[in-house]
Amino acid sequence: MDNFTFQAPTEFVFGKDTEKEAGRLVKKYGGSKVLVHYGGGSAVKSGLIDTITKSIEDAGLEYSVFGGAHPNPRSGLVREGIEMGRQLHTDFILAVGGGSVIDSAKAIAAGIPYDGDFWDLYDKSAPIEEAVPVGTVLTIAAAGSEGSPNSVITNEENGLKRGTKSELLRPKFSILDPALTETLPQWQTASGITDMFAHILERYFTTTADVEATDRLCEGLMLGILEEAPKVIADPHDYQARANLMWTGTLAHNNTCGVGRTQDWASHHLEHELSGMYDVTHGAGLAVMFPAWIEYTAQIDPTRAAQLAHRVFGVSNDLNDHEAAIEGVRRFRSFLKSIGMPLNFKELGCRRGDIPRLVDKLFTNIDTEGVYAVLKPEDCVKIYEAAADYED
Ligand code: NZQ
Ligand code: ZN
Repeated sequence: MDNFTFQAPTEFVFGKDTEKEAGRLVKKYGGSKVLVHYGGGSAVKSGLIDTITKSIEDAGLEYSVFGGAHPNPRSGLVREGIEMGRQLHTDFILAVGGGSVIDSAKAIAAGIPYDGDFWDLYDKSAPIEEAVPVGTVLTIAAAGSEGSPNSVITNEENGLKRGTKSELLRPKFSILDPALTETLPQWQTASGITDMFAHILERYFTTTADVEATDRLCEGLMLGILEEAPKVIADPHDYQARANLMWTGTLAHNNTCGVGRTQDWASHHLEHELSGMYDVTHGAGLAVMFPAWIEYTAQIDPTRAAQLAHRVFGVSNDLNDHEAAIEGVRRFRSFLKSIGMPLNFKELGCRRGDIPRLVDKLFTNIDTEGVYAVLKPEDCVKIYEAAADYED
């Protein structure tokens, strides 16, 4: 295991009706002029925004609402939010929604005090040195942004989807009421499940030896997902299954499972090019890319994929590592299909002919991609082609 420091100070408030505590929590963390940021309207329709603004009023705080964050949140809206936040002297941003709203809120939070265009903080030409504090009320178990220091934004001008990371962006608090996720369409529930599974896998594929504690945490969470996912697909109102998945989504990405080990985020980066170019749902893109990445990298080193296959997908120990890896991928795809995820480019709505452009974009500022398997552009072409061509 490698040396590490781990500090994940977000206060998580979990359970039924906890959204009513939003005002108290904003006040606790020093907010007095609150910008309540939300998405395309689901939180308005469900009455959640009313509940939250009432709780902010009851706490004696001022607020303004700012909606419109799109799935795969956009740079244009972030700039509007920064302007609004500056004019209103916003001192706290409360994100009400999923990863897209939260990431948009984080971008606004970093952009308000930054003397320049916020995109500098995403293309890494400038560091994040200051940010308005952020809190969240989560409405979908998926991206893990409620507990992470990350934010991912799509630049509408060049179609690049890029992430940034700073402890200043980690939410001060996150309210997690599983009941709020019961209104999700199945597609979003399943995409969220795929995303959290992928966050665990990106950490699982490590080059670091002797990481049994975090390996077992990863495997436990993945086994839990395989058990709970069919329950919410069968019954969207299964509160207990929703609760288990919601906490899994947070643990999958606040780095509890990733400390002391190298991680490999190639599958996410391969997917971000798809959502940047076609605006596909992030989790669905991962359902297409991750199995293809495992299959390809198993030719280079099958050991981790074989361990995954044995311990999570119940593949027999009689197979050699490469055979086990391939059988594990087959079972992974079968799980993804069972929850309604796409498995190839056609089902996802992407074009094989765009692969050279996808690879060019992926390698904009880098020479190689990945850590567990170090990939060159020609490797990524093959992974995209395998993802494009996969037939069930
Ligand atoms: O916009 P509204 O109307 O709210 O609808 C949303 C949206 O259409 C809907 N939704 C959310 N909660 C709902 C609901 N509909 C009904 N009932 C509810 N309770 O679901 C749709 C998807 O929402 P979104 O926020 O996009 O989902 P998700 O949480 O999957 O976030 C995806 C984004 O997070 C990024 C992804 O790249 C993508 O842009 N990621 C962020 C990460 C981070 N910051 O740490 C890490 C991830 O790897 C990921 O890259
Ligand atoms: Zn993700």
